[in-house]
Amino acid sequence: MATNTMQQVLSVPDAIESRHSIRKFVEDPIPKEDLNQIFELVRLAPSAWNLQPWRFHVVTDTNLKEKLKEASYGQQQVTSAPAVVLVISDMEDVLENLPKTVHPGLSPERQQEEVANLSSFFGSMSVEERGQWGLTQTNIALGVLLVTIQGLGYASVPMLGFDQEKVKNILGLDEHVKFAAMVPFGIADQEGYPHHRFEIEKIVKYH
Ligand SMILES: Cc1cc2nc3c(=O)[nH]c(=O)nc-3n(C[C@H](O)[C@H](O)[C@H](O)COP(=O)(O)O)c2cc1C
Repeated sequence: MATNTMQQVLSVPDAIESRHSIRKFVEDPIPKEDLNQIFELVRLAPSAWNLQPWRFHVVTDTNLKEKLKEASYGQQQVTSAPAVVLVISDMEDVLENLPKTVHPGLSPERQQEEVANLSSFFGSMSVEERGQWGLTQTNIALGVLLVTIQGLGYASVPMLGFDQEKVKNILGLDEHVKFAAMVPFGIADQEGYPHHRFEIEKIVKYH
């Protein structure tokens, strides 16, 4: 496990427990090394058939962040954060690269068979249907991202309160991509709200 350049690494329970949405950050830029460490971990998230439809656009440019804030109805956390990650799902890119997603440990025949099965399965769906399917997988990576950011000593806020068409234009994203979230993150400069959640009896049933 690599070490964080700035902060102590938290245990998984501590990262989950201490995570709160943070909307004010200190200005310090995030070292490239820490960004790399975050995405090295997040890319290990699981997905059905290991298709990994998630793609991450990391915005640190001040002008671009201003534009993203405007597209986010003026939400201040977008420019307060030193980095803003757009977590998107791109199933069309997945389908164009199917041979790369098949496990190299399989025989060439099995690999071809897998590619053919996946092509046929997703080929029978519309772009919109498979886009929505990909989003269910990409949300797994979003959860892993939030915990990873927290675990490495940073803080974040997941957001969907933005105009998706505007953000696609700002970043030059293809029309078919789906957004899991915009995630401003950095070192926290405020405390979040206390946790407010359903009781465990409401959400967990044992059978
Ligand atoms: C998918 C998603 C979208 C969200 N969109 C916004 C948003 O646009 N703006 C915002 O300030 N918070 C947003 N939030 C943060 C939630 O309000 C917050 O996670 C929730 O109230 C629980 O608080 P906590 O994150 O501090 O535990 C969003 C959270 C999620 C998971």
